[in-house]
Amino acid sequence: MRSRREFLKLSMAATAALALPRPAGALRGPVALQPFSVPLRIPPVMKPVRSDGERDFYEVTMRRARVEILPGSRTTIWGFDGRFPGPTFKVRRGRPIVVRRRNELGVPTTTHLHGGEVPWRSDGHPSLAIAPGDTYDFSYPNDQDAATLWYHDHLCMRTSRNNYMGLAGLYVIEDDAEDELNLPRDAFDVPLVLHDRSFAKDGSFRFRDKVDLLDGDVYLVNGRPTPFFRVANRKYRFRILNASHSRGYTLALDTGDPLMQIGSDQGLLAVATPAASIPLWPAERAEVVIDFSAYPVGTKIVLQDEADPAAARPIMRFDVARGEADDSELPTVLRSIERLVPGPTTVQRELILNKDLDTNRWVINGKPFDAGRIDIEPRLGDTEVWTFVNESTSTHPMHVHLVRFQILDRNNGQVSAGELGWKDTVRVDPSSRVRVIMRFEGFTGRYMFHCHNLAHEDHSMMGQMLVRAGAAPAPPELFEGRYVGSSSAASKFRCDLTR
Ligand code: C2O
Ligand code: CU
Ligand code: CU
Repeated sequence: MRSRREFLKLSMAATAALALPRPAGALRGPVALQPFSVPLRIPPVMKPVRSDGERDFYEVTMRRARVEILPGSRTTIWGFDGRFPGPTFKVRRGRPIVVRRRNELGVPTTTHLHGGEVPWRSDGHPSLAIAPGDTYDFSYPNDQDAATLWYHDHLCMRTSRNNYMGLAGLYVIEDDAEDELNLPRDAFDVPLVLHDRSFAKDGSFRFRDKVDLLDGDVYLVNGRPTPFFRVANRKYRFRILNASHSRGYTLALDTGDPLMQIGSDQGLLAVATPAASIPLWPAERAEVVIDFSAYPVGTKIVLQDEADPAAARPIMRFDVARGEADDSELPTVLRSIERLVPGPTTVQRELILNKDLDTNRWVINGKPFDAGRIDIEPRLGDTEVWTFVNESTSTHPMHVHLVRFQILDRNNGQVSAGELGWKDTVRVDPSSRVRVIMRFEGFTGRYMFHCHNLAHEDHSMMGQMLVRAGAAPAPPELFEGRYVGSSSAASKFRCDLTR
């Protein structure tokens, strides 16, 4: 039942937002801070605790920590191993791992590997919470192309808060095909995890459980506010993840030089593609190569957000600090990508995205998320085309678990060259439709699809699919689960798995 449209309400909100002053350079927060006053940090790479002939085993503790994000103040975070962002996993295609996660947060949590093709019980289903004090072993087969994935909390109705508090990190899969390209590696292969956050006067994160969006006023890269990064005058590969709550960035260099994009959500593009700017919505990844040999030592280059063309905001600065030899390469052709095309047996689905103003919830095909309901039942081996129809005035970055997809078309403009690779999250602009095509492979079980604006996801723009091997009824164990509940008595939003 979509009785009223959200249009009027949101256009009024948009008008009000325009009246507010926008911070241009200086950061707001408990302390005055100029941009580019702290160095970038690179999250540490996880080491296995042990290995056997087939697998590597890791252990991670989710716990609270007080860390310095804004200079001179302390922020309580909830982090994997007490870090924000969490440590980076670097794994090899074909080598499975097991990650034992211990929850010492004092609240339930669960962890999803975003972009991972994993068994559903390791997928961080929102109802399969790890209770406080418990541990859970996640198996990741790593049987997929090299790509920049990430892991983050996915707890039912608490994904927004749990991510805001810091529960997110990178997960990089490497493979031989990518190695052969001789792209920049090691110290020249640098993750850039983008968050925006607001801070209270005492330095704590100012989280609010919002329905529409939660934007922060401080831009963080790898947990550092608008940092600088000293680079050599050579090529670097940057793996950029938008781990923000709601904010879509438009990434660009202040020099006006194009960014050379080589990868997106699910690995390399077919060809390296220069882009004047790259839109990046929550959960999307963009990999770029910047060749600093084009700039004399001493040059400072700002990576900025041009989402508001009238007021570019700095994200970080590259300071070309030294000369250095470079034997890495940037080939134009990166890999071949088979284009999926719809055929006579392709399953077609339409997902209408809107807000139900009677309940103030975001809905898909008129329904809020319900863990006891299966919305879609794809079959293994099938190819499906999903049309996301956005009837609202908000952008929805739509994400599907388990599968990778290709974007077929948008009705409001073209699919950019940087979007032509394998994706797992797609921006659906206001009042527009986007078609994506995917093939169901790998595993059966219960998986989610949802908007990755975490405010929308929690309220409650998420659905559940049951991937089946055939026409036979789903085995009962697919419906077992642990009730994690909801704090709001008025909520009809169900998180338990029993039905
Ligand atoms: Cu990155 Cu279901 O999420
Ligand atoms: Cu995901
Ligand atoms: Cu949304």
